[in-house]
Amino acid sequence: MSQPVQKPILIVNGPNLNMLGTREPSVYGRDTLDDIRKLALAKAKSLGLGVDFRQSNSEGELVGWVQDARTTAAGIIVNAGAYTHTSIALLDALQAAELPVIEVHLSNIFRREDFRHHSYVSLAATGVICGLGAKGYELALEGMAAILETKSRGRA
Ligand code: DQA
Repeated sequence: MSQPVQKPILIVNGPNLNMLGTREPSVYGRDTLDDIRKLALAKAKSLGLGVDFRQSNSEGELVGWVQDARTTAAGIIVNAGAYTHTSIALLDALQAAELPVIEVHLSNIFRREDFRHHSYVSLAATGVICGLGAKGYELALEGMAAILETKSRGRA
């Protein structure tokens, strides 16, 4: 029998990440979100994965997308921006999704202000990548490919 087509990975970006490129380049680098989207798409293609890449400044919209992912995605890569540190609603949605979750941050949040050291998202995440800039998204896709591979072997 032919293999079912794998669902895409939802890559979801939170508030102010649409400002990348001009926003505090000394912290976040010069890559725009569109540059990161292109990098992620190319990496996903090389891994045989599909990607649904999104950004919103609205907590409610992010929660809605994560809810939808439960049925439409194979896994979630999330950079929730400042909602990382504040949003129990997003944490609840990620836990309800029952999908592999990898958390990404461009900056090393542990080298920054104390309030960035706590992440609600981490409570739902299999892994966390931070401080490696745009490369973190590529590494997260590699990690997700490995998790999905292990999962599918478990089902075989
Ligand atoms: C961020 C880190 C967060 O603390 C911050 O609020 C962001 C970006 C990062 O990618 O480094 O908006 O998630």
